[in-house]
Amino acid sequence: MEKLISNFNQVQSLPEKYIFPLEKRPGKLPVPACKFVPIIDIDETAGENRAVIAQKILKASQEFGFFQVINHGVPEDLMKDTMRIFKEFFELPTEDKAIFYVENSRSNKNCKLYPSSIINATEDVHLWRDNLKLNCHPLEKCILDWPEKPTRYRQVVGSYATEVTKLVPRILELICVGLGLESGYFEDKLGEVTSLSVNHYPPCPDPSLALGLTKHCDPNLITILLQDDICGLQIFKDNEWIGVEPVPNAFVVNIGYQLQILSNNKLKSVEHRAVTNSRTTRTSAAFFFNPRDGIMIEPAKALINASNPPVFRAFRYQEFLRSYMTKNGNNDNALEQFKLQA
Ligand code: OGA
Ligand code: NI
Repeated sequence: MEKLISNFNQVQSLPEKYIFPLEKRPGKLPVPACKFVPIIDIDETAGENRAVIAQKILKASQEFGFFQVINHGVPEDLMKDTMRIFKEFFELPTEDKAIFYVENSRSNKNCKLYPSSIINATEDVHLWRDNLKLNCHPLEKCILDWPEKPTRYRQVVGSYATEVTKLVPRILELICVGLGLESGYFEDKLGEVTSLSVNHYPPCPDPSLALGLTKHCDPNLITILLQDDICGLQIFKDNEWIGVEPVPNAFVVNIGYQLQILSNNKLKSVEHRAVTNSRTTRTSAAFFFNPRDGIMIEPAKALINASNPPVFRAFRYQEFLRSYMTKNGNNDNALEQFKLQA
C-alpha cells in the first residue's frame, strides 16, 4: 500500500486502518456550514475604528475561540497562488515527495512530510490526511530546505510566510486593546519560531468512518489558517460540532492554549477537527505562532484582581509542549497540570 493518501489509486472502500472506533467517528455528515463564526473586517483605515474591531475580536475569541478576518492586507492573489502551489505539491509524482518523508535519510528538519499520520501508539488509526510541515524562521535559511518542485514553491510560499508574519502582530495588538492590556503586551511574547503545517485531505471513500484531523486545541499562541473553498473544519460549540464556512480571501484565526492562559481564561481555545468528503480534495495551511523561546507564560498581571485570581501558574512553553505531546491526541486535560489549586 502506498504511504501517502495522495498517491492512492482510486480506492473504492476505506482501508481498515482508517476506520475510527464508533465513538470517535464524525457521525452524520455533512454538518451544515454555519454562518455564526464572526467574519471581521480588520481594515482600520477604511472600516470601523480600532476599538470596535478589537471588541468584535474579543467577543468572538470568548464565544467561539475562532473568527475569520477579511481585508487583512495579505494580497488575494498571493493567497490563491499559495493554495494552488500546495495542491500542486501533493499532485507531484511519488519520487518528488518521497525525499521529504519524515523517516527518509534525506529528509531535513525544516521540511517534513508525514504520510497519513498515526495518531498514537496505542490506537493504530490513521488520519485521512497527508501533512507537510515547514519551518519558517529564519526564512532565508529554512527556505533552502523547502521543496524545489513545483518550481515556484519557494518564491510563493516564502512571500506568503512573510506576509502572514506581518499580519499576526496586528491581530495580537487588537486582542491586546480588546483585553485592555497595555499596548505591545504581546509583542515580546511572540516568538520568531513559526511553522506552517499544510494539510491535504484527498476524497475519502467513507467520510462518516474517517477523520482528517481528530479533535484538538492548538498548543501555541495563535493560528492563522488558510482553507480552500471546501467545508471540512468543524469546531465544538455548545456540545455539538459546527462547520466553519469557507469565506473567499478570509483567514480563519483561532486562539491557542497560550493565549487562553495569558488572558487568564478570558479568551478560549476551542476544540476543532477536520472531516473529509467523498468528492473533492481539501487543502488547508495552518500557520502556528509560538511564544518566544524561554519566556515565562502566565496570566497577565493587569487582568488579575481579587475577583479574578490567576487560574494558571507560570511555566515555560517547552514544558507545556512536552506535556501536550505526551497526551498524544487526548488533550482533554492539557491545561490541568498548569492550573493553580483553587
Ligand atoms: C490544524 C488544524 C484544520 C483544518 O492544522 O491544527 O486544526 O481545517 N487544521 O485543516
Ligand atoms: Ni488545529
